[in-house]
Amino acid sequence: MAAPGAQPEGTRDEQGAATAVREMFDTIAPRYDLLNHVLSLNIDRFWWWRTARRFRTILGHPDAIILDICCGTGDMTLALLRRRPKKSRPILAADFAHQMLVRGAAKFIARGAEAVEADALHLPLASSSLDLIVSAFGFRNLANYQAGLGEFQRALKSGGEVGILDFNEPSGVMGKLYALYFRHVLPAIGAVISGVSGPYTYLPTSVHRFPPAPEMLEIMRRAGFHDVSWTPYSLGIAGLYRGVKS
Ligand SMILES: C[S@@+](CC[C@H](N)C(=O)[O-])C[C@H]1O[C@@H](n2cnc3c(N)ncnc32)[C@H](O)[C@@H]1O
Repeated sequence: MAAPGAQPEGTRDEQGAATAVREMFDTIAPRYDLLNHVLSLNIDRFWWWRTARRFRTILGHPDAIILDICCGTGDMTLALLRRRPKKSRPILAADFAHQMLVRGAAKFIARGAEAVEADALHLPLASSSLDLIVSAFGFRNLANYQAGLGEFQRALKSGGEVGILDFNEPSGVMGKLYALYFRHVLPAIGAVISGVSGPYTYLPTSVHRFPPAPEMLEIMRRAGFHDVSWTPYSLGIAGLYRGVKS
């Protein structure tokens, strides 16, 4: 049975987990972009670009209604916006951490996205209203994965698609080397640059807790998605889950 969701150290229930996640991202928001690019050696830009390219057909429809949930400081939103034709509907970019969202809004509002302060588990959106929901490195942080997918199902139109980009633990020799970096080097650099140690210890722990691809695909099927798939990126360090609402 898969873990219900993220559980930062010291939290006991879903409410506590969500509050801890929100406070953590509010704390690291000023340094988030810098850390992201340093720690991923800029590969994250390629992952956002690849994810946007995967959904280029939907993005190419000016009337498509699109949500980037857990948009944070907005780099996934920007990659999605680059694929939108002129005079398209604005992309909705939502996050529950105010300090992350204001930084995202500063980047994407002028380019055609709207900032929405909202919880992924309780979207302030009508049922069957969205053509596409994308989440980059956010879904793993939800306090309840099944509930998150249930909420995505509710908000998507029939035939609408979901794309979840997130980290993965690669296997084999590559996996062992990567684990060394991810569990030891990354938290140390993260702590120095951000000035706090918690978030960058939480990162590898949360990836370890996150269901491996076969299990995650099963959770997506149980939530009602079909044609589910996982495409590994960069030797499986990250990957994109995709599914279609029946
Ligand atoms: C690692 S950041 C990713 C930000 C951005 N998508 C990117 O690719 O850089 C994760 C984001 O998910 C947001 N988040 C986590 N749980 C959330 C929830 N339940 N509702 C809304 N946002 C959430 C956090 O506030 C944070 O901004």
